[in-house]
Amino acid sequence: MMDLAQQGVLAVSSSSNTSFFEPIMHPFSSLLLLGTLASQAVFGRPNSLLSERDIIKRDVDSFFATEVPIALAQVKCNIASGCNAGGVASGLVLASPSKSDPDYFYHWTRDAALTFKALVDRFVNEYDADLQTLIQNYITSQAKMQTIQNPSGSFYDGSGLGEPKFMADGSQFTGNWGRPQRDGPPLRALTMITYSKWLIKNGYQSTAKDLVWPVIQNDLSYTAQYWNQTGFDLWEEVNGSSFFTIAASHRALVEGSNLAKTLGTSCSSCDNIAPQVLCFQQTFWNSKYAVANINVNNGRSGKDTNVFISTNEGFDPALGCDAATFQPCSDRALASHKVVVDSFRSIYGINSGIGKGQGVAVGRYPEDTYYNGNPWYMHTLAAAEQLYNSLYVWKSQGKIVVTSTSLPFFQDLSSSVSTGTYSSDTPTYKTLYDATMAYADSFVNNVAKYAGANGALAEQYDRNNGKPLSARDLTWSYAAVLSAAARRAGVVPLGWADSNSAATSVPGNCYPTSVIGAYTAAPTGSFPAGQTPGNGGPVPSTAPTSTRTTTTAAPTTTACTPATSVAVTFNERKVTSFGQTVKISGNIPALGNWDTSKAVALGASQYTANNPVWSGSINLAAGQAVQYKYIVVNTDGSVTWEADPNHTYTVPKGCATQATKNDTWQ
Ligand code: NOJ
Ligand code: NOJ
Repeated sequence: MMDLAQQGVLAVSSSSNTSFFEPIMHPFSSLLLLGTLASQAVFGRPNSLLSERDIIKRDVDSFFATEVPIALAQVKCNIASGCNAGGVASGLVLASPSKSDPDYFYHWTRDAALTFKALVDRFVNEYDADLQTLIQNYITSQAKMQTIQNPSGSFYDGSGLGEPKFMADGSQFTGNWGRPQRDGPPLRALTMITYSKWLIKNGYQSTAKDLVWPVIQNDLSYTAQYWNQTGFDLWEEVNGSSFFTIAASHRALVEGSNLAKTLGTSCSSCDNIAPQVLCFQQTFWNSKYAVANINVNNGRSGKDTNVFISTNEGFDPALGCDAATFQPCSDRALASHKVVVDSFRSIYGINSGIGKGQGVAVGRYPEDTYYNGNPWYMHTLAAAEQLYNSLYVWKSQGKIVVTSTSLPFFQDLSSSVSTGTYSSDTPTYKTLYDATMAYADSFVNNVAKYAGANGALAEQYDRNNGKPLSARDLTWSYAAVLSAAARRAGVVPLGWADSNSAATSVPGNCYPTSVIGAYTAAPTGSFPAGQTPGNGGPVPSTAPTSTRTTTTAAPTTTACTPATSVAVTFNERKVTSFGQTVKISGNIPALGNWDTSKAVALGASQYTANNPVWSGSINLAAGQAVQYKYIVVNTDGSVTWEADPNHTYTVPKGCATQATKNDTWQ
C-alpha cells in the first residue's frame, strides 16, 4: 500500500485527540487505512495510542455518514420518477439503470420488495413524506401487477404471481427466464405488512384494510398454495427448494396471520400452512450450515449467502437467538456465517493474506461463475448486518451463549473461548462482543475500500483487483447499505412473530399440505392524502405488540363490511394409516372440479388417535353453493372415495370472513 500521506489524501493534524485526521479528497480515502501497518506508516507513532479497532470504527462511522445519504439518493434515482428512471411506470423499481452487459432495466419482484423493505423499515422509524409517496405508489403498482398475465401464468389461479420480472413500463416480460420464482410474493407481502403496521399504529386502520390488505392477501394465498412446489432460487439459476424462499414464506404467513387478526379478519391458510413451512425449513440444516438449495442435484456445496439475507430478513429481536427460525445470533446462523465466509477466503485474490476473524469480500456462493464469480457489495454488507443484529440481541439479553455448534465461529474471534453462557458482566462477554463488533465493521470496511468513485455501488467487485463490475448502481446494493447502517446504529426492524406460536414451534411431523387460494384483484385507487404520524385516531387494542405504543389504546368499533371471500375450514374425521392423505374434491375450480389430481390436501397437524381430524382452509366466495366429497389418497396414488351422497354446503354471506364445516367420513 502506498503511503497515503504522501499522496496528499490525508491531512494529519498534530493534535493528540482522536479526531486527528480528516479526509480531504476522496470521501472514503480514510477507509484505505485498514491495517496496523498502514496506521504506523501514516502516523509514525506506536499503535498503543489508537488501536486498530478504534481506527476501523472511525472509518466505518465516516463511511456510513457519507454513504447512507448517497445510497438513499441512488435508490430513489432508480425508482419511477427518479433521476435514472425515465419511462418507468409509477411505483416500479429498476434493478439497475444498466441497459446492457448486463441489462437490468427491469422491475424484479424480489429486488423491489427487498428495496422497499429497507425503505419501509426506515420510514416506520422516522416519518418521511417523500418515502411515503414512493411506498404508496409501490403498493398500488403491485396491485396492478398481480393481475398481469405473464409466462409464469395468470392471476386466476395465482400462478402469475410467481413471475420474477416485468418490463419497466409494467408489462409482462416474455423472454426465457428462470421462472417461476416463489420468493417474490412472500417478500412483497412482508414489506407491505410492515407498512400496514405503521398505518394501524397511526390510526389509519381502514387504509391498511381497504388498500393494502387485499394486495397482501393475494400474495399470502400464493404462498400458502405454492410454497411446497419447486421453483427457481433467488439467483435465478437453481430449480429446487430454496432456503431463502422458504424462510420468507414462513415469515410472511406468520405475520400475515397476525395482521389479519389485527384487522379483524383472519388468514386461516396462513395458520394452517405456516407450521408446515417452518417444519420444512428445518430440513435445510445439515448440522454444520444451512444448505442453500435442496431437492436439487447441482454439484454445489450449498454454501451460499442466501442464508445471510434470509436471517437478516427474518430478524425479529424478540425471538432472541432462536435456532428454528435461524435468527441472526442463533448458533445455526452463526455457524453458517463462518462456513460461508470461509468459503470465499481462499478463492478471491483480494482476500489473500486476511486472517480468520477478519472481514473479507463475500460473493453469492463459491462455485459462482456469473461474471467469473466475484464478491458482491450486498453480500459483504449482509455479513456485517447479521453480526450487528446479533450484537443487538446479545446486548438486550445481557448474555452471549456459545454452543458446540457456534463454537468455531467464536473461536475465530477468541481462540481460547469454550462453550458456555457468558453474562454481560464477564470478561469473555466483553471480549466476544467487542471482537464481533470489530469483525462486523471490517466487512463494511471492505465495501468502503472497494466502493466506486463517489460512493457508487455496482453489483459486484472484481475478485482479483476489487474494481466495480457488472450492473452499475445496483438498487439492491444501496438498499443493503441502508439496512446495515441502521442495524449498526441499533435501529432494528419491527418484529414479525408477535407471540404467534407458529413462529417458532416446529411440528413433530411435516406435511407438505397446501391450500388453494382465492385471488381477487385489489383496489388500485390512490391513497388518501395527509396520512401523517398519529393523526388517524385511536389504535386498536388488537394491534400486535410491535405496533402498539401504549397499553391504553381504545377498542375498535367495527362496522360490518360484508365479506366477499370466506375462509372455510373443512374438518374431516377419518382414521388413516401412515402414508395416506385426506383431500377434498368438489364441483368448483377451487376444489379441482372433481378432478382428483387437483383435489385440495388437508393437514393432519391436529390428528390424534382420539380425535382423528384432517383439516384445511379454503377461501371461497361468500354465498357460493358447493358440492364435495372427501377422498383418501393412498401411498401408491390410488384414490378411495367417500360413499354417496355428495356433501353440500353454502358459504355464508355476511360479515364473517371465516367459517367451519365439520364432517365425518361416510
Ligand atoms: C445468471 C445469473 O447468475 C443470474 O443471477 C442472473 O439473474 C441471470 N444470469 C440474468 O442476468
Ligand atoms: C441477479 C441476481 O442474482 C438476482 O437475485 C437479481 O434479482 C437480479 N440480478 C436483478 O438484480
